Amino acid sequence: MNTRSNRIQIVSENLSDIKVMALSWKEKNEVVGFIPTMGNLHEGHLSLIRKIRDYGATKTIVSIYVNPKQFGPGEDYAEYPRTPDEDIKLLEKLNVDCVFCPSDEEIYPPNAESQVMIDNLSLMHELCGKYRPGHFDGVLLVVNRLLNIIQPNIAIFGQKDYQQYVLIKNMVQQLFLSTEVLMAPIIRENDGLAMSSRNSYLNSNQRSKALHLYKSLISTSRKIRENKIDYKSILQNEIERLNKIGLSVDYLELRTSNDLSSVKKYKKMNGKYVLLGAIKLGKTRLIDNIIL
Ligand code: PAJ
Repeated sequence: MNTRSNRIQIVSENLSDIKVMALSWKEKNEVVGFIPTMGNLHEGHLSLIRKIRDYGATKTIVSIYVNPKQFGPGEDYAEYPRTPDEDIKLLEKLNVDCVFCPSDEEIYPPNAESQVMIDNLSLMHELCGKYRPGHFDGVLLVVNRLLNIIQPNIAIFGQKDYQQYVLIKNMVQQLFLSTEVLMAPIIRENDGLAMSSRNSYLNSNQRSKALHLYKSLISTSRKIRENKIDYKSILQNEIERLNKIGLSVDYLELRTSNDLSSVKKYKKMNGKYVLLGAIKLGKTRLIDNIIL
């Protein structure tokens, strides 16, 4: 076990160390909370640590692992920002108990099964799955492995990646994993842009355009709630408007919030729906959503 600090355990590349540590905590009736990340931490990630403590975690483990299997060919795996030293300093300030930084060899030993079989194939290929083939296979693979290694009592995921949260919750149910999966709200910049490690790719012109996604989610959800015309026409008009002002829209869709199933007819009901959007600005792809 590597310990670079006296306040935080830093476990790199050793699955059995982290397994033993988490197990010994559970034996002492600690509530082990787990926050998986790809690092380059911002306030959105840090909010998950505070939230999981509010939910009762007495020990917190954060993993930092840029998972190669969830990036498609031509995606930003190589450029993805890696800032482990800064990340660990931030985690120390928050008194996180353990940071787990596994290597590729530990997570993906040769000849190991490379897919998690779950019965939710359609959602894996819709919304972001349609534009990032194989992405959610990679996410579920790594999250399943991390949950099996650590076996936390609770794990928390951000609403920012709503489809990821729904698929993980579903996988945990289907595989009878013993972890409770929770969701935390989206943390935004002062002007409303959802925080994301990928925001650093934007130039100043793209940065100001990026805000249109959130503004659009707010104005579109207001129009949908008014329920004067069919919600599908509202979305179609909005997609055309966004494309005209230079945001290349992958999707803007209204779905049912509990399982992301499609919506035939909108009926006003608080929390029943989620409006999800994904746009591209140059090479950068941004996602956001709001619950309505
Ligand atoms: P990453 O993008 O690093 O995000 C880690 C966690 O932080 C995810 O649960 C994500 O939803 C949450 N998060 C990111 N931005 C947020 C924001 N602005 N507000 C609130 N939460 C936010 O998501 C992943 O990594 C990976 O797919 C992972 C689950 C670690 C598997 O590799």
